Formats: sequence, C-alpha cells, structure tokens
Amino acid sequence: MEKHINIAIDGPSGAGKSTLAKRLAAQLNFIYIDTGALYRTVGYHVRKNNADPTSVEQVVPLLPSAAIDLIYDEQGRQRMILNGEDVSDFIRTQEISRYASDVSALPPVREFLLDTQRRLAAENNVIMDGRDIGTVILPNAQVKIFLTATPEVRSHRRYLELIEKGEKTDYETVLKEINQRDYNDSHRATAPLRPSEDSVIVDTSEMDLEQANKALLDVIAEKTGVQK
Ligand code: DC
Repeated sequence: MEKHINIAIDGPSGAGKSTLAKRLAAQLNFIYIDTGALYRTVGYHVRKNNADPTSVEQVVPLLPSAAIDLIYDEQGRQRMILNGEDVSDFIRTQEISRYASDVSALPPVREFLLDTQRRLAAENNVIMDGRDIGTVILPNAQVKIFLTATPEVRSHRRYLELIEKGEKTDYETVLKEINQRDYNDSHRATAPLRPSEDSVIVDTSEMDLEQANKALLDVIAEKTGVQK
C-alpha cells in the first residue's frame, strides 16, 4: 500500500497554524486539514440545540444527529458541512470558539472525530493542524511541529483577523479569551495541548510570515526530503 506523508502542526490558537499550514499545503501540493473546524462544527451543533457545551450528558445524545462532512471548494478551501448545510461561515465567531473549546474537552467528542481525522491522513499526503495531532491522532506522522508564540503576539494577530472580518472587539477582550482558551486546552484531562517528545518547537513571536514559512519548510525538508 502506498504510504502517505503526514505532517502534524499543533499549538495554541493564534500561533499561525492555519495560515502557515495552508501555505505549506499549496507549496508542497498536500491537502490541508483544519481539525479545529471539526470541533467548531460540533460546538455549533451544540449551540444550535441550546445545549450546555460543558455537559457530557447534554452533548453526547446530540452527536448522532451531527453528520459532518469536510469538502474542498474550487479554490481548494476546506468547507464544513453539517447535516447538508455549509456552516463554514458561522463557526468562526468568538462564541463558537468557546463552544468548540468546551466540547473539545469531552472525551466522547474527541472519540467521535478521531476516525475522520485518521482516515483523511491515511488516504492523502496531509498537513493537519490542531492540538493533539502529533500526540494522539497521528503518532507516526513523519513531521511534527509545535508552533507557538507569546499570548500577546497571538492575541494581536487574532484581534486584527477579527476586526478584518467585521467583528466588534478590542485587544484586551481577545487577550482574555486567548488566555482562557490556552488554559482550557492545556489543562483538560483528555488530549491536552502539549508538544510531543519528537516534535520540533517553532516560536513565531519574532518571525514574520515569510520567516515562519521558511523555518517550517526547512524542518519538512530535513525530515522528509520534500522540498518546495
Ligand atoms: O484551532 P481552533 O481555534 O479552530 O480550534 C477550536 C477549538 O477546538 C480549540 O479551543 C481547541 C479545540 N481543538 C482541539 O481540542 N483539538 C484539535 N485537534 C483542534 C482543535
């Protein structure tokens, strides 16, 4: 059987994972998989059903009615389909970020999304970004990168992103949310955010996009021989 190359990029929110993973995927002709969007889609489903995202009793019965598909549009962008509806544009709000963070702490939710992620990686050359890709989902990935930056730098980037999308917010609120989500994501009992022992840690606090892009291309070339 043909063996595909799997590249795992984990790290806290706002470290630049999705921007960089998307670029790398285009540069290397890999498929980019944003796993946060899966948790966001579950979070959206839970919100829509007026359930408490922290309650395993309320969330678990809703999972069978969440048929989640991940498709790519003509521009190669990942779209999230929930029960036949494209919800990609509704899952990026701060409210759904909180729902996603809460539901992602529930083991049955992680279990529910596991097979989808592993199947995609088995069938394609992928760059997958998330929190537990290198530690749990793809422990045999040929490349594991833990991408990080200071909370202040990440909040500033996220703030600019939200403003650009027309959301009304301020830097202090974003910083508070980021600190809260960092805490949730790294202190949960199941699959907490942490670098795997064999990951390469890349801190992008002092790097611009081009520099970070080059740093990651260098790691990938060294580990796999795959070059741009
Ligand atoms: O990367 P993101 O901000 O879109 O992720 C949304 C939430 O989902 C985030 O709080 C952490 C969680 N998540 C996770 O637990 N595991 C992943 N592989 C990806 C995201």
